[in-house]
Amino acid sequence: MNQLVFATANKNKVLEIQKIMDGHYKFLSLMDIGCLEEIPETQQTIKGNALQKARYVYENYGKNCFSEDTGLIIDALNGAPGVYSARYGGPEKDANANIDKVLRELGATENRNAHFKTVIALILDGKEYTFEGIVNGTILKNRRGSFGFGYDPVFLPLGKFKSFAEMSSEDKNKISHRGIATDKLKSFLLNL
Ligand code: IMP
Repeated sequence: MNQLVFATANKNKVLEIQKIMDGHYKFLSLMDIGCLEEIPETQQTIKGNALQKARYVYENYGKNCFSEDTGLIIDALNGAPGVYSARYGGPEKDANANIDKVLRELGATENRNAHFKTVIALILDGKEYTFEGIVNGTILKNRRGSFGFGYDPVFLPLGKFKSFAEMSSEDKNKISHRGIATDKLKSFLLNL
């Protein structure tokens, strides 16, 4: 079976993709290939960071691999937090602090349009491919729901009445940025 490294330290993400791909590939985590160091993420764009992580693994470990990077882009904040989504509220990468800062910065602003963007970067035998997923929505004035993670409690997807944190993970994944990008990756891999 073809092997593919998922450049993530998060075992749950590896298990999730394994389930989605239904046994067509064997996915390995960074730990599985002995990559325990922190991979640099120093680019100015989400796509740039996704490519940087995949290239790091390909160049240093010689393995076919993919990585993903996600950001929340808020129109009224000129695109912030964007590539800084994880550490917007401080270096601790604390989700509550991140949300507090978003709500503080937005204040009573009426334009609360935002989108999540995920880019998956895949490298197969040195050839690079990227897959993008975007979900549009608005930033709520208060947190709603207790599922999910990150900015989910304040993100209301366009046309829906539930925040991401009020949805089951199945419902969220059907419409989410990551779900869309992962579907594109899946179709690509299954059509090789
Ligand atoms: P990462 O690229 O997965 O590390 O995500 C960057 C930042 O965006 C982190 O603060 C995550 O918590 C947040 N984030 C990523 N995906 C989601 C999501 O689906 N919902 C809410 N926040 C997310």
